[in-house]
Amino acid sequence: MTGTSASAPAPAPGPVPSWYFREYAPVGVDLGSADAVADFDRNQGTDPAADDALLDRLGVTAGTRLVDMACGTGSLVVRAALRGAEAHGVDVSPEMLGFARRRAAAAAPPATPGWHHAGFLDHVHPADRPADVVTTKSALHQLPDFFKQQALRRMAAMLRPGGTLYLWDVIFSFDPDDADAEVARWLDAAGRPAGEGFTREDFEVHVREEFSTYAWIIEGMLERAGLEITDRAHPRHTHAEYVCRRR
Ligand SMILES: C[S@@+](CC[C@H](N)C(=O)[O-])C[C@H]1O[C@@H](n2cnc3c(N)ncnc32)[C@H](O)[C@@H]1O
Repeated sequence: MTGTSASAPAPAPGPVPSWYFREYAPVGVDLGSADAVADFDRNQGTDPAADDALLDRLGVTAGTRLVDMACGTGSLVVRAALRGAEAHGVDVSPEMLGFARRRAAAAAPPATPGWHHAGFLDHVHPADRPADVVTTKSALHQLPDFFKQQALRRMAAMLRPGGTLYLWDVIFSFDPDDADAEVARWLDAAGRPAGEGFTREDFEVHVREEFSTYAWIIEGMLERAGLEITDRAHPRHTHAEYVCRRR
């Protein structure tokens, strides 16, 4: 591929420019209020067994340094800490982090996770302690594409060379010609009755106000962040996961 950077440059520490996206301002579906946080695990289908399976796939064991960006209620971070990993959760929402801290206190892992009130665009990971694994699930779509690229560069720069980035999100793999029909089909299938999960209205807000984009755009961004895609899956036309290796 031409025009790509061979490795991820370290982002400059310090305050982000004033023209950067306001990542602490809520976007789209309400996830930050106390009620939304209390309902989040049910709505999201948070499943510790699925988290454990993902950690197995990513080779997370005792001593692995893992950073979960936009960690939400912290399930993945706590599961990693329970197996002895040095686990860090990063999120812009103090309410989410409060829930995550309580989850960790209840689980009592051998080492307390690090919790960081920060975002994709301003979290500073210490350069002398590079991560083995960086994960981000169901969150990169909170940023417009220009800033997704910045976020991916920053996540790549947190990793040691050869380290692993895992990305899961609403990412579209349908043909743009089919977009209206594909989104309509997703909205018809995904919504749950209020009180049982995210509703159809929530998914409409997601498409209208959040920034999910096409797989071919995300894949170009991953490459340009200095990441090699080693595994990809599009289990639905609306969702994708990528396992990447820092070059
Ligand atoms: C849908 S939740 C996903 C949480 C978790 N990753 C999971 O899979 O359950 C999205 C999370 O992203 C967080 N978030 C939104 N924008 C963010 C940003 N710019 N930087 C870091 N976290 C962000 C929200 O506070 C929320 O906790």
